[in-house]
Amino acid sequence: MIRIALLGTGNVGRAVIARLEALDDPGLSLVHIGNTRVTVGPSLHESAPHVVLDATASDAVAARHAEWLARGWHVVTANKLGRGASLARAEAIEQACTASGARYGDSATVGAGLPLLRSLRALRAGGDAIHGVAGVLSGSLAWLLARFDGSVPFSTLVHEAGVAGYTEPDPRIDLSGEDVRRKLLILARAAGVALEAHDVQVESLVPTEGDALALLDAPMRARLDAARGQRLHFVARWQAGVARVGLETLASNDPLAAGSGTDNRVAIHSARYAQQPLVIQGPGAGAEVTAAAMLDDVFALRDQPAFSAARPSKNVAIGIGRAIA
Ligand SMILES: NC(=O)c1ccc[n+]([C@@H]2O[C@H](COP(=O)([O-])OP(=O)(O)OC[C@H]3O[C@@H](n4cnc5c(N)ncnc54)[C@H](OP(=O)(O)O)[C@@H]3O)[C@@H](O)[C@H]2O)c1
Repeated sequence: MIRIALLGTGNVGRAVIARLEALDDPGLSLVHIGNTRVTVGPSLHESAPHVVLDATASDAVAARHAEWLARGWHVVTANKLGRGASLARAEAIEQACTASGARYGDSATVGAGLPLLRSLRALRAGGDAIHGVAGVLSGSLAWLLARFDGSVPFSTLVHEAGVAGYTEPDPRIDLSGEDVRRKLLILARAAGVALEAHDVQVESLVPTEGDALALLDAPMRARLDAARGQRLHFVARWQAGVARVGLETLASNDPLAAGSGTDNRVAIHSARYAQQPLVIQGPGAGAEVTAAAMLDDVFALRDQPAFSAARPSKNVAIGIGRAIA
């Protein structure tokens, strides 16, 4: 029996609740749900969860991951601000895991559960040396740039992407590249590189002169013209000691130029994959795949001895969870 506390009842949190209901697994008990307005069930500490699921984007919540791990609570997160913020926080998470034996499930933070982090860690565990990681890690920017051929202004496409639900309600969050910086930090740190957030150069697409997205149109058009018929891609790259996030022109046969829609694509260069990178591609966004990835991380905890000994506890929250979501 695994007692679960869920923080966040937005897109991802609701998908987690829906998936728990559909699974109807007697080995999983949702004992606490919270958002910024209400909580259901006993308080987090009274509920003594085995695992805290972080489906928020909250820095304050991520700042507590190490503390929870140190108590022996497992943490499963879609929130990138644990391992994708300061190096000190990422290291505190590692140290807490080592000290308490608790596990940190972060499959959902990059590529929404695509086997990116797990492949990097498996390669390193097998003695491989990672030389570089490069990827298209923003589904919304991939969608936008796949359509950007100069026939319509870039700001028109940003508007269309918003209507289709591919960008955040404020598209500047996607265009700033900050989310991609966090994902690159998580990937690079999983590859064994102790990068600080400021070690990553970020090319923001947000207009510097004012708020109007139409200010993007002329510079984006100029970038496209300079690409001479090749497509622009928003790439995160740690390679040859340099970490950078921004626009790149890629040849059509580049592994990162394949894929469609909002697909994520990542190329791993290593001693083992020296001639050709290992390429992983697939849907890297969406509440359902993200929730599934989080629950996969929960299921991976089942081999922990504590769970066979724990007594079943009342599943207080699922029905009410829908009401507060
Ligand atoms: N959506 C995706 O496709 C996707 C994919 C991969 C990863 N992620 C990540 O998953 C996380 C959640 O994304 P989302 O799309 O579900 O976001 P969202 O719809 O904005 O939901 C965020 C939830 O977090 C809650 N929250 C914020 N601060 C909190 C706090 N201090 N304590 C408890 N709850 C708090 C909010 O509460 P209120 O309801 O009260 O505002 C809200 O319920 C983010 O970190 C995001 O980057 C999302």
